[in-house]
Amino acid sequence: CQPAAAPAAPAADTGPIKVAVLAPLSGPVPTFGVSTRDGALMAIEEWNAKGGVLGRKIEAVVEDSQCTPDPAVNAANKVIDQDKVHYIIGEVCSKASIPISEIAEAKGVVQISPTSTNPDVTLKADGSTKKYIFRACFIDPFQGLVMAKFAQGKGYKTAFIMFDQGNDYVRGLAEAFEKSWTEAGGTVVGKETYTSQDTDFSAILAKVAESKAEVLFLPDYYNIVNLVAAQAKEKGVTSVMMGGDGWDSPDLDAKASDGGFFSNHYSPEDTRAKVVDFVKAYSTKYGATPDALAALAYDATYLLLTAIEKAGSDDPAKVAEALAAIELEVVSGKVSFDKSHNPIKAAAVLQVKDGKVSFVESVAP
Ligand code: PHE
Repeated sequence: CQPAAAPAAPAADTGPIKVAVLAPLSGPVPTFGVSTRDGALMAIEEWNAKGGVLGRKIEAVVEDSQCTPDPAVNAANKVIDQDKVHYIIGEVCSKASIPISEIAEAKGVVQISPTSTNPDVTLKADGSTKKYIFRACFIDPFQGLVMAKFAQGKGYKTAFIMFDQGNDYVRGLAEAFEKSWTEAGGTVVGKETYTSQDTDFSAILAKVAESKAEVLFLPDYYNIVNLVAAQAKEKGVTSVMMGGDGWDSPDLDAKASDGGFFSNHYSPEDTRAKVVDFVKAYSTKYGATPDALAALAYDATYLLLTAIEKAGSDDPAKVAEALAAIELEVVSGKVSFDKSHNPIKAAAVLQVKDGKVSFVESVAP
């Protein structure tokens, strides 16, 4: 007699296309994770409403990678080995995206970091480009140059730089700023390092006060900026504080950092139609103005899904090729990738003033 026919397993190419979203939902910088997740999920929802991609539904697999190497590596292995994803959106933090990129590259999984700005995310040790790794944001050498030029344009000539030696992003941006600052004729009157465990910055801030630096460059995330800015006020530091995209958070202490400037990827005040539509849809859905992390996660997801559609295939090797050749207008600008898989895009300089963050100027590459 015939054995009962087993129910047909769905063919691999008719089930949903899974996209992993690796974001720091807990750990030191949770607002980065929430915005990233929400931006990516909104993009996926919009695509699903139009019928998905390649005629298949898109399914998000969200993991908390904590802006920290070990949990990030575990999350990457989990989504690749257990969930069998071919695509990763994430991480936010360079120090988590770099170890994830090693795994994704080795396993042939496409990774687009929405926001990791350290050059090593997409580069191998020998300087060649990782085939499967891309990002949706500009990189730190550009961001450092933008802030150095901006500060010197305001007439400042002396800067004090403080940074977390153990954070790839913070260290890289501090180095980039120092290089551009001195090349443009500025003087670095002091440079001090701390660790991510530190909470008392009074010894360094006493040196900053003594140096009378016009600019205090602090390229860290909002959680550290909040601590340093509050203590700087107590110590009587009068330097104008400046930093990079890591300041971008609804939890930035606007009172402590009042008067500070930072570079960022986008401004919700931008009047381009893409930005206006995105800000409207996001605030309707989530009841909050989208920050740069939400915008870039949304953009990274659009880049990925457009590349899958252009490749006409769920094969990550073909999707990586389609990405390398893409040209797409997204919320944060017009994206095409250079040979290192970095988009060439403008930066926005923003100022913290009277309890809110306002657009100051846009700087083209
Ligand atoms: N650029 C930061 C990094 O590489 C992450 C970040 C981007 C944080 C944008 C805030 C806003 O670690």
